[in-house]
Amino acid sequence: MSGQTNLAVQLSISAVNKRFASTGEVLSDIDVDVPGGQFITLLGPSGCGKSTFLRLLAGLESPDTGRLRFDGRGPASRDSLGYVFQEPRLLPWRTAAANIALPLEIEGVARENHAQLVNDALKLVRLEAFAKSFPDELSGGMRMRVSVARALVTSPRLLLLDEPFGALDEMSRQDLNDELMRLWLERHWTAVFVTHNVFEAVYLSQRVLIMSAKPGRIVADIEVPFDYPREAQLRARPEFAAAVGRVMERLTDAT
Ligand SMILES: Nc1ncnc2c1ncn2[C@@H]1O[C@H](COP(=O)(O)OP(=O)(O)OP(=O)(O)O)[C@@H](O)[C@H]1O
Ligand SMILES: [Mg+2]
Repeated sequence: MSGQTNLAVQLSISAVNKRFASTGEVLSDIDVDVPGGQFITLLGPSGCGKSTFLRLLAGLESPDTGRLRFDGRGPASRDSLGYVFQEPRLLPWRTAAANIALPLEIEGVARENHAQLVNDALKLVRLEAFAKSFPDELSGGMRMRVSVARALVTSPRLLLLDEPFGALDEMSRQDLNDELMRLWLERHWTAVFVTHNVFEAVYLSQRVLIMSAKPGRIVADIEVPFDYPREAQLRARPEFAAAVGRVMERLTDAT
């Protein structure tokens, strides 16, 4: 583990409830503790409140009751947080590099540091050669990598990922899973990853939380026993299939 582990945000979520006037109770009695540097995945049926949960963590919504603590304190500051959305959400008139620079502009990071930080972020996602490309000159997988670089450019201590690879084909998804794991092993932020995909959940994470729908509750908290770095071949091994099977069973119970 890298020396950065102690910088990762520790999350403590207790008795959180959230309802919307139009849709009723969405999250019910959510209790989760996440040690700094852990990679957890939230898995659950469509509409169970996964994105709402991430939005609460990001401070974009507030809970009706209960509390969210980051390192024992109130909300995480914006610059310690990275958010990767389901779609890349890149500005089409900006190059890859200029898209990645956006959070630096928003955070007011000194201009003279932008080029270096953007370069580092491009390197992390192996897109140095595409700094000057526009989004429509990139493949779907490359656009997603730009979006990951944009989330990482401020060196977040907590990374929230909302079904980031859901729109990609299986091969691109697996490649990006491997890249994400490499980045996490290097940087060791705390990661909260949302997906529908059980294979991806088991492959990436140390821990899978399963949510039920209507209202969203955490109904299972499953440790994934494999060491890191996990190699692509792990996906073909019987113990991987067995772990996927265990998660699937719990997910089926939840839905
Ligand atoms: N701002 C809002 N106002 C009213 N209802 C909302 C709002 N945001 C979410 N909801 C409702 O909360 C529920 C959970 O939505 P959410 O987007 O968190 O689900 P999800 O698990 O991310 O689903 P998916 O897997 O399809 O992305 C849904 O019923 C949705 O309609
Ligand atoms: Mg969602």
